[in-house]
Amino acid sequence: MEKSTNADIVVEEEEVIATKEQKVETSPSSGKMKAVRIHKYGGLETLVYENAPVPEAGPNEVFIKVYAAGVNPVDWKIREGKMKDFISYDFPLILGWDMAGVIVSVGSLVSRFKAGDAVFARPDISQNGCYAEYAIAKASDVAFAPVSISLSQAAGVPLASQTAWTGLFEVGNLKRNQRVLIHGASGGVGIFAVQLAKIAGAYVAATTSAPNKELIKSLGADEIIDYQKENFSTLKNFDLVFDTIGGETQTRSWQILNKDGILVSTVGINEEEAKKNGKVGKSFMTISNGARLQEIAGLIDKRMLRVVIDKKFPLTQVKEAHELSQSGKTRGKIVLSVIDNTPH
Ligand SMILES: NC(=O)c1ccc[n+]([C@@H]2O[C@H](COP(=O)([O-])OP(=O)(O)OC[C@H]3O[C@@H](n4cnc5c(N)ncnc54)[C@H](OP(=O)(O)O)[C@@H]3O)[C@@H](O)[C@H]2O)c1
Repeated sequence: MEKSTNADIVVEEEEVIATKEQKVETSPSSGKMKAVRIHKYGGLETLVYENAPVPEAGPNEVFIKVYAAGVNPVDWKIREGKMKDFISYDFPLILGWDMAGVIVSVGSLVSRFKAGDAVFARPDISQNGCYAEYAIAKASDVAFAPVSISLSQAAGVPLASQTAWTGLFEVGNLKRNQRVLIHGASGGVGIFAVQLAKIAGAYVAATTSAPNKELIKSLGADEIIDYQKENFSTLKNFDLVFDTIGGETQTRSWQILNKDGILVSTVGINEEEAKKNGKVGKSFMTISNGARLQEIAGLIDKRMLRVVIDKKFPLTQVKEAHELSQSGKTRGKIVLSVIDNTPH
C-alpha cells in the first residue's frame, strides 16, 4: 500500500486528506454526541466514553466535526489534577486540546471560515476539549488544515508545533547561525523543534536515546547526543537551550550556554539554578494563534516540516493512548481517531 510522503510511516494513504471542501457535515438532531469525559480528577479509570451534549458555537467560534484528536502530556496532567492551581475546570470535562476536522457551522461574526472547510486547531485549554465527535474553537485559534497529510496526522500538529515555534522564536528569539540544543528531540514538541530550528538556519544539537537517533538525524539535526550514554554538558557555546524535560537535565544545561545564552523551558525554570549560574531562564505556556498555525500548515505542504505519528488509537482506546503518553517514550505524536471510517 502507498504511504504518505510527508509523514512518518504508520499512517496509510487511504485516510481522509484535507481538501478545500469536505463533504458537508451536520449536527446530530438528538443534541448528543460520543465523548471521553472525566467527572473527577484521577487515574485512567476516570476516563469515561459516554454521551455528552453537543456544544454550541458562540459568535466568534466555529463548530467542528472532529475527525481526530491529538493526545498531549497536558491531557493526563489535567486528568490527574496537576493543573488545578492554574486552571479551574467544571466537571464533567471533555479532555483533549488538539484536533483536526471539518467545519459544520460558524458563529455570526466569523467570516474567514465556512461549513465544509477542513481545519485544525488547538482550542481554548480552559474549556471542554475535543476527545469528542464535535467541538468548538475560537476562529482566531483555527487554521485551514494542510492538504498534503491526512486529518488524523494533522490532529497531532497544532499544540506541539506551536509550542516548538513559541519556545524557539517568540520566547527564545532564535536566529540564523545561532546554536541551539533541543532536549527531548524525539517527543511531540521536540520533533517539531528540531525541524523548525533547522528551517530557521540554526545549528541544532539534540538529545535523544539510541532507538530514535536515526529519526532525529533524518529530521536534520547537526549533532545528536544519546542522553543515556553521553554527557551533553560537555558541549560549549550555545545561544539557546530548548528544554522539554526539566529536572536534572535542565540543571546540567546552564553550563553549555555562552555569555548571553538563555534557556527556554516548556516545563518551568529552576530559578535558583539559573541564578547560581548567572543565566536567564524563561518558561512559557503556549497561546494558540491561527495565523501562526497557518504558517506551520504551509511548511507541511511545502514538504519542509514532517509530521511523525507514533501511534493512532480509536477514541474508545483512550486509556491505552494515555498510558503510552505517560510512559515518557512517545516518538512523535499520539492521535485518537474519532470518525468511524478513519482506519486505526
Ligand atoms: N508550556 C507549554 O505550553 C507546553 C506545551 C506542550 C508541552 N509541554 C510540556 O513539555 C513536555 C514535553 O512535551 P512532549 O509532548 O514533547 O512530550 P512527549 O512527547 O511525551 O516526550 C516524550 C519524549 O521525551 C524523550 N525523553 C524522555 N526523557 C528524556 C531525557 N532525559 N532526555 C532527552 N529526551 C528524553 C523520550 O525520548 P526517548 O524515548 O529517546 O527517551 C520521548 O521521545 C511535557 O512535560 C509537556 O507537558 C508544555
